[in-house]
Amino acid sequence: MEIPLYFYEAFRNMDRLAPGSDESTLKAINYIDFNRDSELNILDIGCGVGSQTLLLAKYFKNSTIEAIDLFNHYLKCLDEKINKYDLGNRVYTCQMDMNDLDYPNCEFEIVFSEASAYIMGFKKALKEWKRVLKDDGYLIISELSWIQKPSFESKNFWKTHYSEIDSIDNKINQIKEEGYIFVDYFILPKKDFESYYHNLKSNLKDLDNNSFKKDFKKEIDLYENNSDDYSYVFYIMKKSAYQ
Ligand SMILES: C[S@@+](CC[C@H](N)C(=O)[O-])C[C@H]1O[C@@H](n2cnc3c(N)ncnc32)[C@H](O)[C@@H]1O
Repeated sequence: MEIPLYFYEAFRNMDRLAPGSDESTLKAINYIDFNRDSELNILDIGCGVGSQTLLLAKYFKNSTIEAIDLFNHYLKCLDEKINKYDLGNRVYTCQMDMNDLDYPNCEFEIVFSEASAYIMGFKKALKEWKRVLKDDGYLIISELSWIQKPSFESKNFWKTHYSEIDSIDNKINQIKEEGYIFVDYFILPKKDFESYYHNLKSNLKDLDNNSFKKDFKKEIDLYENNSDDYSYVFYIMKKSAYQ
């Protein structure tokens, strides 16, 4: 499937397609208590241009990483980086729909998904991705969450853009209800949003006005006025061997 042209332009030359940073990704990876030298199977869902894929590969240097995305354009960008860093013998890209993971049961020690689970919805992702995780394997997801009681403006915007946005406590309850062992969470710092929106804004300057641009600008303005209300939050959990 090809990426819509407008998105191609809006995100051009960006290392991240959502709020995040190498520091935050590494902080999340550091929760994993597998030996860094182990030969693990790792799945990165909604990899985009793959900043987090490369960090996973560099951290777990004997592991195999499968990076999946719906759009070939992003996978090609990641393939170039895989070649540049000579990781082609253990990092693989694959065009695949996160709703329909084409892997056997219990295939991965780690399933990682940064700012992508919202596409199918957090609860459905928790339910469906568990199948491909080994017992005691880690599922790590960054997910948009309320970090305080939101303003009317924030609530109104996210009600239509991502209705599953919820408080951290409710997200943790969903994780536990799905039978995972909840390990920890942390909130992404504001600078992760600021750098993402800074890059997006500068790309948008050159683009024609249309409904996509209006929507991006609305999202950026909302964040600038309500940055204490919500953030991406990394949730770290394990698949229990006894479920
Ligand atoms: C917000 S971006 C996050 C990308 C990357 N993880 C990051 O943080 O920069 C969401 C990604 O999910 C991909 N995506 C959208 N729908 C998908 C689907 N149904 N299955 C797999 N990937 C999908 C998009 O192409 C995009 O790369």
